Amino acid sequence: MRQAGRYLPEYRAIRAKTDFLTLCKTPELASEVTVQPIDIIGVDAAILFSDILVIPEAMGMALEVIESKGPVFDHPIRSLTDLRKLNTEGVTDRLQYVMDAIKLTKQKLSGRVPLIGFSGAPWTLATYMIEGKGSKTFDTVKRFMYSEPEAMHELLRILSDAVVDYLNAKIRAGCDAVQIFDTWAGILSPRDFEEFSLQYIRYICERLETNGSPVIVFAKGVHQFDKLADLKCDVIGLDWTQDIGNVRSRIGETKALQGNFDPCILFAPKERIKEETGRILESFGGGSGHVFNLGHGILPKTPVENAKYFVSCVKELSIKYH
Ligand code: CP3
Repeated sequence: MRQAGRYLPEYRAIRAKTDFLTLCKTPELASEVTVQPIDIIGVDAAILFSDILVIPEAMGMALEVIESKGPVFDHPIRSLTDLRKLNTEGVTDRLQYVMDAIKLTKQKLSGRVPLIGFSGAPWTLATYMIEGKGSKTFDTVKRFMYSEPEAMHELLRILSDAVVDYLNAKIRAGCDAVQIFDTWAGILSPRDFEEFSLQYIRYICERLETNGSPVIVFAKGVHQFDKLADLKCDVIGLDWTQDIGNVRSRIGETKALQGNFDPCILFAPKERIKEETGRILESFGGGSGHVFNLGHGILPKTPVENAKYFVSCVKELSIKYH
């Protein structure tokens, strides 16, 4: 959940001298910012510094991450012709810099905490590739999906194969767990979620050579937990719009649950942060299978002090339950 991000002055100092993509592509720097939050915040897993959009970039789509706008593709996909121009062969080879960053990060961590690698889910990658940037209504991607479903499926199939290859390479390079982010799953109707997102996540999960590494699926805004529970994965990520205890009783002990703290509570007074941490732990209850985490990315203006306090609350209050 963007452990290394703009809320950390140590990250901003490096970012002030390097543009975002160069940072992702320079293993020495990417591994440095990956390790920063372990030392500064005290979290007990590291997430590799990178971005989900390195896959489309490696397929030939020029990417810029602009300070106040976020990621932008200058030439988004708007037709089957655009789609067929993607360079879909050897994508993982062009992402060798990610594997190098993993190897270097593992050295720097020297076994202190596990390292999580990640990928965007095909649907979320496709939304950025078609919209060209973030969106409020997602009308461009939905128009494409409803008018040219065959082309949409072609794109989603290409992305699924790329994600399988990429995550398997990340596991081989040393990641101890992998997470699939479907950030925009929640904008789809239940039926469309099955057709345009879930079937591809299922396809990916069935083809991962995990070697025992846990697979985490985070489909933000999706409440179809029975369907998520059927995936060949180990952990389901939750945002904050559902009660973790409820989800646990619905899907049983088949999957571990990760989440579900609203990152905006990190702006509140310390008592409120502690209260919410305790509430989530109490709702999940005793036993293993709870990965405490934010329900989505930490926001750039979050006080570092509060992030540290949050982590200390989780460590202190969770002892009673696990
Ligand atoms: O925690 C970590 O350090 C891991 C790093 C990480 C980043 N992006 C770095 C980043 C991860 C896990 C991601 C995933 C990602 N990227 C997702 C899925 C997770 C989610 O948040 O939903 C998505 C949708 C993206 C696409 C993306 N990249 C967006 C929407 C943005 C803008 C973010 C913002 O806050 O404006 C980015 C850029 C980005 N990726 C930043 C970071 C640290 C901020 C860029 C900067 O330094 O200027």
